[in-house]
Amino acid sequence: MSAGQGAMRAIVQRELGAPDVLVLENVPRPEPGAGEVRVRVASAGVHAVDTDLRRGEGPASMPETLLPMTPGREIAGTVDAVGPDVDATLVGTRVVAHVGFRSGGYAEYALVTAAALHAVPDGVTFSQAVASIGTGRTAQLVLDAAGMVASDIVVIPGASGGLGSQLVQLALSIGATTVALYGGKSKRAVVQQLARAGGAHSGRLIALDATDASWPMRMVAALDGEAPSILLDGVGGMTARAVVDSLARGARVVIFGWSSGAVVRLDTDDIVARSLTVTVPLGRPIADLRALESRALAATAEGRTSPPVDEYPLADASAAHAAIEQRRQRGKVVLVP
Ligand SMILES: NC(=O)c1ccc[n+]([C@@H]2O[C@H](COP(=O)([O-])OP(=O)(O)OC[C@H]3O[C@@H](n4cnc5c(N)ncnc54)[C@H](OP(=O)(O)O)[C@@H]3O)[C@@H](O)[C@H]2O)c1
Repeated sequence: MSAGQGAMRAIVQRELGAPDVLVLENVPRPEPGAGEVRVRVASAGVHAVDTDLRRGEGPASMPETLLPMTPGREIAGTVDAVGPDVDATLVGTRVVAHVGFRSGGYAEYALVTAAALHAVPDGVTFSQAVASIGTGRTAQLVLDAAGMVASDIVVIPGASGGLGSQLVQLALSIGATTVALYGGKSKRAVVQQLARAGGAHSGRLIALDATDASWPMRMVAALDGEAPSILLDGVGGMTARAVVDSLARGARVVIFGWSSGAVVRLDTDDIVARSLTVTVPLGRPIADLRALESRALAATAEGRTSPPVDEYPLADASAAHAAIEQRRQRGKVVLVP
């Protein structure tokens, strides 16, 4: 399907439901208003929360999904037009932005306020920039909450996912011993490739398949009796609980999600018995998101992160959503128009 003059292809969602409610349509190309630019999208981020919003089950902290709508809150591409009061020299520049609740990223063109733009650093691909702008900024927030140093032993469940893969790389770049837990043999390669040769990563990577019930014993053996000092948990459930049981005295637990469907079970007995510090850095106002975005892009430009990306054609948005819901993602899922 090709879009005509003044038109574009975009994913339009007209009802809540299964992934097949995401349909490719020809729609009018949007015109930038005051303070806005139009970006010709080269890569659009797909987020686990997008799948919740699609079903009408988004978090209480996010506005209700109003239909019809085009999903997508993370975009990278080239500025194609600017609003009347916006610097015209932006046209043609490579940019990345989080468009926020207005969404509209699953499209050939999307609008965003000029103030939200970041330049895509040299050597960073559009898809990696998209991975950095949203998921990367969350990774920076989690890292701040953890207060990680080189002597830490960090456990990261969901290491093959968008956020987990960047957290593993950031921990390795700090020099921490990093236990990356992944879900099944098919994800081994993506996790083992997270450790980069060269100066960017000095930590030791221990990659373990969490679907093999012996992983806790293999972790103890690999750590030679030392106990982990940090759990970064976006998965929850039994895997995260097993990590809690292995933590050292004074360990830090940072909770930012529950991909398994259940938040890690943790009570005051656990906290007191081992003097744990438990932090939940999300679900409350975040002081300077833009600074976190800049730091995430710098981490990618400097090679501390090289986010693995799982690219789907724009027309296959429903398949991209299904991959996330069926736990088949390899890194950050993006759509390429
Ligand atoms: N990305 C962000 O900006 C952001 C922001 C706020 C909160 N979060 C939260 O952080 C967590 C990770 O986000 P993400 O963006 O990395 O998501 P993602 O790309 O969908 O990755 C989630 C990972 O969780 C693991 N997982 C383990 N058990 C699972 C199960 N039963 N069902 C599905 N996945 C399971 C999977 O890895 P394995 O199969 O290898 O175990 C999967 O790759 C989520 O809970 C999300 O809500 C993310």
